[in-house]
Amino acid sequence: MVYNTDMTREQIIAEIKEKALRERVPIMEDEGLDYLCDFLQKHQIRTLLEVGTAVGYSSIMMAHHNPQLKIMTLEQDEERYRQARDNIEKCGFSDRINAILTNAREYETDEKFDVIFLDGPKAHNQRLFERFEKNLNPAGYFIIDDVWFHGFIEHPELIRSRRLKPLVEKLDEFVKKMMSNPDYRCTYLKIGDGVLVAARKEKTNE
Ligand SMILES: C[S@@+](CC[C@H](N)C(=O)[O-])C[C@H]1O[C@@H](n2cnc3c(N)ncnc32)[C@H](O)[C@@H]1O
Repeated sequence: MVYNTDMTREQIIAEIKEKALRERVPIMEDEGLDYLCDFLQKHQIRTLLEVGTAVGYSSIMMAHHNPQLKIMTLEQDEERYRQARDNIEKCGFSDRINAILTNAREYETDEKFDVIFLDGPKAHNQRLFERFEKNLNPAGYFIIDDVWFHGFIEHPELIRSRRLKPLVEKLDEFVKKMMSNPDYRCTYLKIGDGVLVAARKEKTNE
């Protein structure tokens, strides 16, 4: 894509979104993303780890709406990662969004985050939650996208593909486990494709 230097950041973001939709790159639905951007602002979130960069659209939107926010975002697909780096640079966010080419299921970091946003491999949310829980600040939040999963979780009888069934079962299992996790206060929001917000309870010394 050729960018005209007179384009505003909003115009560049609109083109990134349009291109992603045209090329069928999965990106967050507007409603879920609006909620996420407002949530980050309301809770004055400073640091966020995202699993699943795709071409950088959600991280760019979050950074655009939250000038204090720093993001680390993980993507395993090389072509998407390359496009994400490019898009992040064009939006002038290279100093605030650190995109990393890696398999998130194996990635290790010592950094701590206020929010960990899972929007990567849906069947591996449980494993990702376990891997990154140590990276969440006390009183931080896990936010998980696509927990409604096109309605298949509520209506598994609608699943036509054999490949999809185990994925939907795993996602359902993960959501139930999260909702009953005593260390988190969970809210299931029916916005976009379903968003789960899990607020870590602060430990008391009792
Ligand atoms: C739903 S898309 C992310 C969309 C992005 N958050 C947005 O809204 O703009 C999920 C992405 O996760 C990536 N992904 C899948 N498994 C992964 C893994 N194990 N490690 C890192 N990225 C992974 C996919 O390649 C895909 O680009």
